[in-house]
Amino acid sequence: MGNTNVPKYAYPAGIDLPERKWPSKIISRSPTWCSVDLRDGNQALPNPLSPEKKLEYFQLLCEIGFKEIEVAFPSASQDDFDFTRRLIEENHIPADVFIMGLVQCREQLIERTFEAFKGAPRAIVHVYIATSELHMRQVFNLDRKKTLAAAVKSIKQVRALADSMPDNDIRLQFSPEEFTDTDPGFSLEICEAVFDAWGKATAEKPLILNLPATVERRPPNQYADLIEWFCGKFTRRDKVLISLHSHNDQGMAVAATELSLLAGADRVEGTLFGHGERTGNVDLVTLANNLQSRGIDTGLDFSILERISETVQRLTGMPIYYRQPYAGEYVFTAFSGSHQDAIRKGLKQLDSAANTFGMGWKVPYLHIDPSDLGREFERLIRINSQSGKGGVAWVLEQEYGLELPKAMHPELGRAVQAYSDSVGREITSAEVFAVFEKNFVNPQGSYKLISYWPRPDEDDPTFVHGEILLEVNGERKTIRANGNGPISAFVHGLRESLGLTGFAIDDYDEQAVGKGADATAYCYVPLRLDDGRIIFGAGTDTNIDQAAVKAIISGINRMESLAKN
Ligand code: KIV
Ligand code: ZN
Repeated sequence: MGNTNVPKYAYPAGIDLPERKWPSKIISRSPTWCSVDLRDGNQALPNPLSPEKKLEYFQLLCEIGFKEIEVAFPSASQDDFDFTRRLIEENHIPADVFIMGLVQCREQLIERTFEAFKGAPRAIVHVYIATSELHMRQVFNLDRKKTLAAAVKSIKQVRALADSMPDNDIRLQFSPEEFTDTDPGFSLEICEAVFDAWGKATAEKPLILNLPATVERRPPNQYADLIEWFCGKFTRRDKVLISLHSHNDQGMAVAATELSLLAGADRVEGTLFGHGERTGNVDLVTLANNLQSRGIDTGLDFSILERISETVQRLTGMPIYYRQPYAGEYVFTAFSGSHQDAIRKGLKQLDSAANTFGMGWKVPYLHIDPSDLGREFERLIRINSQSGKGGVAWVLEQEYGLELPKAMHPELGRAVQAYSDSVGREITSAEVFAVFEKNFVNPQGSYKLISYWPRPDEDDPTFVHGEILLEVNGERKTIRANGNGPISAFVHGLRESLGLTGFAIDDYDEQAVGKGADATAYCYVPLRLDDGRIIFGAGTDTNIDQAAVKAIISGINRMESLAKN
């Protein structure tokens, strides 16, 4: 197998470009975008799309904002031909969208493509021919001269057919396939010849020269060098759009495309979530959102990314990976406690961050605002046994409106962690709430409050009297309560009648959850034990005083079980 006198692999030779400019540039404007999701075979899907699904996909691409969509290889199959016809005949193409059809440099195929395009208001004929030595020699048994001649002949045919449709806006795109494996001088020569053969490119209606990395054989910087070199050498640069078409064989299609945009390209072809042959084409969701995150308006709307993801997964039958940039289920989620804490703090300080950093969004661990992509806030922080107290409190605050005092967070965090350890998986926010209720609102213990309705003293209304009705280990007791206010009277009553000592209550937090008549009071009471430890109890009721005394009973039950353990 192979020649053992040469190494199996070698570092690809780049071009000599010592004055390269792209490394010190920035991308300051959006490229134009072309989706190639719907090419024949629908970009290598195991189960190609039915016509109905293909139409739904096309409409989704239009909704996102693509203005150029490669819809088919019309001459390759009846299905693709019919789909192109259907778009035109049923008026599915928005007024500002160009459909594009792929075709090889073959006479009958070009004719058939034009048949498919009849009546298309705006269309791009995408002609390609392989230009690498490898392809020309091994696949087509051609040399450079014959390849160039075939390309020129086909472009002249395209020109004639386009001229026969004067009422339609027919543009040309030419791709020297395997551009990045082609001798740069030959790519330039064939593209210049194509330009001449087309003969009608203008700044307003430019020829698209699509320079593909058909297989990602080179590091991204070499693609960028080739693009900068080509842009510098092409003689009619102002009348062509330089287009990128990166494949992802080495996992660097996004990087290669970004560097090549720095190098001067104007346009990008790719697919949603990187569908396409082998490892796919460049992922336009990632690329466009990268640019958006740097303040570049891409013209593409990913605020409906959840729906886009759901639709593409349903139509293609291929799942999106959990950690897929921007779209994956976990990409705006923090499991680790320190990350959760940092995110929570950052989200609360957006205003001060804006002043310090001069941008409206600067949050630890989140490079963009998930809500820009329609991601839901409450799913930002997810809980498992690695999660911290801050994240747990955040979940209760975001999803249940509970603002637990900070001093309570460690105790709650420990309880949630113990539960999460015991179930050995990520837990839902409903489970976090259940842990909170079970441990802090209704903890098991000897004491159960039945009722306590204090009333003001007739002479001094700041002084209260009341009866506490409670069960102690199942036995009913009525206790007299007198004191300066309902809570103090309650605590005094318990101390004096039941001998409950060993704790003090200095202060407590209360809040209303909900509004108006539906509001519920929550009270969080810290019991300071004689040894300095703090134990929290929580109570809830429609009445704030009732919530407070329930919280005290919860705290006492927790104190008791702590003493037992
Ligand atoms: O990857 C490629 O080279 C292509 C061409 C047809 C443009 O898809
Ligand atoms: Zn391709």
